[in-house]
Amino acid sequence: MCPLADTARATPPRPVPDPLRTRASAPYEVVALACRAPSVHNTQPWRWRVEGTTLELYADRSRALPAADPHGRNLVLSCGAALHHAQAAASALGWEPVVRRLPDPADPDLLARIHLSRPDPGAPQPATEPGGSHLDPAAVLRAIHERRTDRRRFTSWPVPAERLARLATEAVAYGGLSEPIVDVTARFRLELLISRAMSAQEGDQRLLAEQRTWIDHSRDDGIPSSSVPEVGFGPTTRRNRFTQAARPDVPGPARDLVESSDGVLVIGGPDDTMESWLRSGEALSALWLLATRTGLSVVPLSQVVETDETRHALQHDILGDRLVPHVVLRIGWQEISRSTHCATPRRPLDDVLLP
Ligand SMILES: Cc1cc2nc3c(=O)[nH]c(=O)nc-3n(C[C@H](O)[C@H](O)[C@H](O)COP(=O)(O)O)c2cc1C
Repeated sequence: MCPLADTARATPPRPVPDPLRTRASAPYEVVALACRAPSVHNTQPWRWRVEGTTLELYADRSRALPAADPHGRNLVLSCGAALHHAQAAASALGWEPVVRRLPDPADPDLLARIHLSRPDPGAPQPATEPGGSHLDPAAVLRAIHERRTDRRRFTSWPVPAERLARLATEAVAYGGLSEPIVDVTARFRLELLISRAMSAQEGDQRLLAEQRTWIDHSRDDGIPSSSVPEVGFGPTTRRNRFTQAARPDVPGPARDLVESSDGVLVIGGPDDTMESWLRSGEALSALWLLATRTGLSVVPLSQVVETDETRHALQHDILGDRLVPHVVLRIGWQEISRSTHCATPRRPLDDVLLP
């Protein structure tokens, strides 16, 4: 049983304020679905303005993480994920979204403007996959509702390289650059970097204090402690950013590699700018919704990018400067019979809407 409710599906959304009731509701439905997007620490660092059938997405800097994310990379990635969710939801609801990214140089927090058009409201257009094949709108909406960050350990079934390549293609189709890490040596070195970044952050009291405040932060945001598995030493969990313990007798990365059959993939861009972060966020969402639709589980690992030293090593030594890394993803299969992973909460719509 999920304590905070399977928000989007089981609980009706909280009512929007009165003046909004008189407006067309579909754009608000798109915003509500966009807000199901993943965000760093579930900070949901976005605001939306709805004007008729135009949506504006703003970065909400008041929800930034100054210790872990001083430049706002993860904040903008999170907004990019919401931007892609909005496009996917709009298409699935029969609208055609046209996006302008960073449309106002005088206002860099206005990340995107989305125009929705629907020439014939009675005839929803099917969404298409990047390759042009038709995509079932119901499957997209289901993926938005069912996607989760499930940090429980994956099964031992390996993720085939072709699967990772297909996910990378999806990310590239939505504007990011992406590279699966399949070479065994590169993979081993990446695991070492991930572990080194975790250890560095575990020694940073300011960062840890910031992270702690987002665990059970409120009923509307943050990460419920129920979403963070205990670190166990059996086959059910692996070390994650919200647990500090690690079995002392076996070095983390070696243990993880031995036990691990999951895939790892990097999303990045040509540089470390806001526009590239926004596109990487869109790519992250596109990849994750595809993974959800095809039974794969995704867990972002951003610490290796947040820590300067490990980010540089990842970019130069492992990626050969082919892309600037923005986020690393662990990808695997969850057990089919495993219990439901509860949805993390979301802020009510009226909290994220600008007048
Ligand atoms: C940019 C970004 C970075 C993230 N980094 C991590 C991470 O380092 N470790 C982790 O366990 N989860 C990470 N997450 C997952 C978020 O914690 C998760 O999306 C959020 O708690 C909402 O939960 P949900 O994805 O189940 O909806 C990240 C998500 C985003 C969008």
